[in-house]
Amino acid sequence: MKNSKKNSNRRSFLKSSALLGAFALTVPAVSFSNSAENLNKKRINKIPMRTLGKGKSAFKVSALGLGCMGANYHRGRVPNRQKMIELMQEAVEMGVTLFDTAEVYGPYINEELVGEALGKFKNKISVTTKFGFDIQNGKSVGQNSRPEQIRKVAEESMKRLKIDVIDLFYQHRFDPNVPIEDVAGTVKDLIQEGKVKHFGMCEVSADVIRKAHAVQPLTAIQSEYSLMWREPEKEILPVCEELGIGFVPYSPVGRGYLTGMLNDQWEFYPQNDMRQDWPRFQPEAMKENYKLVQLLIDFGHERGLTPAQVALGWLLNKKEWIVPIPGTTKFAHLHENMATTNLDISDQEWQDLENEVAKIEIVGDRYPAEQQKQVRN
Ligand SMILES: NC(=O)c1ccc[n+]([C@@H]2O[C@H](COP(=O)([O-])OP(=O)(O)OC[C@H]3O[C@@H](n4cnc5c(N)ncnc54)[C@H](OP(=O)(O)O)[C@@H]3O)[C@@H](O)[C@H]2O)c1
Repeated sequence: MKNSKKNSNRRSFLKSSALLGAFALTVPAVSFSNSAENLNKKRINKIPMRTLGKGKSAFKVSALGLGCMGANYHRGRVPNRQKMIELMQEAVEMGVTLFDTAEVYGPYINEELVGEALGKFKNKISVTTKFGFDIQNGKSVGQNSRPEQIRKVAEESMKRLKIDVIDLFYQHRFDPNVPIEDVAGTVKDLIQEGKVKHFGMCEVSADVIRKAHAVQPLTAIQSEYSLMWREPEKEILPVCEELGIGFVPYSPVGRGYLTGMLNDQWEFYPQNDMRQDWPRFQPEAMKENYKLVQLLIDFGHERGLTPAQVALGWLLNKKEWIVPIPGTTKFAHLHENMATTNLDISDQEWQDLENEVAKIEIVGDRYPAEQQKQVRN
């Protein structure tokens, strides 16, 4: 990374950490109860199923999905294409039925890759995708959820994904220029026409969820949620519970940070990794926040788990209608992540972890200012 970029990153880091206030400098001394004897020996045997949404909007999926974005978009060096196809197909073999992508990832190249890998499994698994951006000359130039745009994206995404119906179609970002009732109404029409099966929205407020749900019942809300970002617990999870809407946490391992693989020495691949400009991934923030990773390491160590597994296990234990979608480009990580669907850790143990995590002040905003404006919680 060039020095000028490092300096500007440092400035934005200082700004965001000042806003967040004081934080402890020492790693808290923690002792977790030892429950190694409770470990479930049959962890990877079978991925259980969960249900997102209720009634006519219910959608049965594997308890963990696979986030496909990073296979070729914004998670560092782009891996070998054939290997990513094999990785997605391996996930199918393992029993994963939920695969997440979006038109804007690339744009288009992620859907094309997913279509190539998974099109032939269209009757066995589900691919979820998203509308909501205006794409001009290969670049997103802002939000666009006008009805004609939603219809256009649906048709084009189906072609790229090699499917005849979109199992779950999300609005990617709220569009302030289009009433939410019109967005929900358009998806309702697409459902009636047999082009879409279920409706979802990403990163919207509780108020917007209520308005949209009244027009077309929602199956899932997709928002960032992890031990690093627990904002959805305030309003979003309660409204989902009340209305019977499922919740799909994205970036469930903190975009890689909670796995312990990234630290203040990490060199991001500049051509394809937006994390390099984000406050939480500046070296100072990563150094400060490491006390959270250390907690996950300690908690996992006694139970034979990696920090990534602790992060995913905690999410899965929260509610049975939560289905995280971790992304990975590694076969080993795929197996490691899926193994968390069969953990045997008590609610009390998770609560102990949560109590310790709550003492840590996370440093650095999750998004830079421009992208933060697009999310509503
Ligand atoms: N709706 C939205 O606005 C939105 C926004 C962002 C993402 N998403 C969706 O959510 C999915 C996941 O989000 P994300 O990629 O931002 O975050 P994430 O799943 O929290 O993190 C992915 C990163 O973690 C690493 N990782 C995963 N498992 C690991 C393990 N067991 N050990 C070590 N490293 C591991 C991956 O690296 P390796 O490849 O090396 O494993 C990758 O760089 C995306 O693919 C996308 O479908 C949606």
